[in-house]
Amino acid sequence: MDHIHKKAIDPAKLDAVIGRAVADLSAGYGGVMVSLGNRLGLYKALAETGPLTSRELASRTGCAERYVREWLGSQVAGAYATYHAISDTYELTPEQAFVFANEESPVFIPNAWAIPASMWADEMKAVEAFRTGKGIPWGDHDGRLQCGIAAFYGNAYKASLVPEWLPALTGVVDKLKAGALVADIGCGYGHSTVQMAEAFPASTFRGFDTHGESVIAARKVAAEAGVANRVSFETASASTYPGTGYDLICFFDCLHDMGDPIAAAEHAAKAIAPDGTVMLVEPFANDRVEDNVSPIARMYYAASTTICCAHAISDGGRLVLGAQAGEARLADVFRKAGFTRFRRALATPFNLVLEAKL
Ligand SMILES: C[S@@+](CC[C@H](N)C(=O)[O-])C[C@H]1O[C@@H](n2cnc3c(N)ncnc32)[C@H](O)[C@@H]1O
Repeated sequence: MDHIHKKAIDPAKLDAVIGRAVADLSAGYGGVMVSLGNRLGLYKALAETGPLTSRELASRTGCAERYVREWLGSQVAGAYATYHAISDTYELTPEQAFVFANEESPVFIPNAWAIPASMWADEMKAVEAFRTGKGIPWGDHDGRLQCGIAAFYGNAYKASLVPEWLPALTGVVDKLKAGALVADIGCGYGHSTVQMAEAFPASTFRGFDTHGESVIAARKVAAEAGVANRVSFETASASTYPGTGYDLICFFDCLHDMGDPIAAAEHAAKAIAPDGTVMLVEPFANDRVEDNVSPIARMYYAASTTICCAHAISDGGRLVLGAQAGEARLADVFRKAGFTRFRRALATPFNLVLEAKL
């Protein structure tokens, strides 16, 4: 630290660092309020009515007024709700309601806060992992991780997967309409599998994941959606799952979590039909650290540190890509596995959608 102390501190630059750090700290406190507002139905009650006093909101939600009033203050301070001083009432704009009250919205954010909540709960596991270099399996995390990912990503997939991502792949939608065999690897709770099954009734879908509890949850999701006759889920690893002749093999936000992504791609090369397609959806990233400087990259690097890298290490750790691998490294994995064609089908601020063919 001595060399730092000897340098003069520039007050303006210090202000900028403090401002940034305090804004982030404020967001961390705010996340707890978002989760409470969601669990207690506070956002929903606000969204369903016009402006409400704290007393009215408390009575509609069966909560104690004093707590509700303080919570409302936090929402106004963070620009998550709007306050009318003259009537002492609070309301959500349509945009605020879309983000905080509408569970079907692709940007419904409360579920996403379950992920950092799980990271805090597992902090000491991460401390241990940093010191020992050992991994943390996906299933060893606080349960809010798996539920949070499933709920948050499930909504995002609903808005993008069938309407935008599949049509960006060459010829895949026509095959799915006609009747294709699809594998969803690392399927988690199976929201992606089930959404595709709902959209393409002539096709058959098989989801695989190493996490047994997720597979059980996925079966439930399929049964509730009424597609269990065409959708099956099994506990299996990306490098050993059964079946051949798949027209489409999907990896949604999971290849970088695997301990041996090249083995997973090699297995896909054996399991895929000659003209089949691999659909690889990964967190958006550029290829170089210096080009991954944004709130989204920061979020992904953080989750990658304690979740993605930690799982990949626990899963053998032959190649630990991390959630900010970038297209060049991902392409390399598929080239090494024998795929000759690899292209970016599309990119969003959150995701890269990539296509690989033999
Ligand atoms: C971030 S979650 C994504 C789940 C789901 N695809 C989604 O998008 O919501 C990563 C998933 O990959 C699974 N996974 C990790 N390593 C695996 C492996 N080697 N084989 C199969 N699944 C694996 C984990 O159990 C976890 O369910």
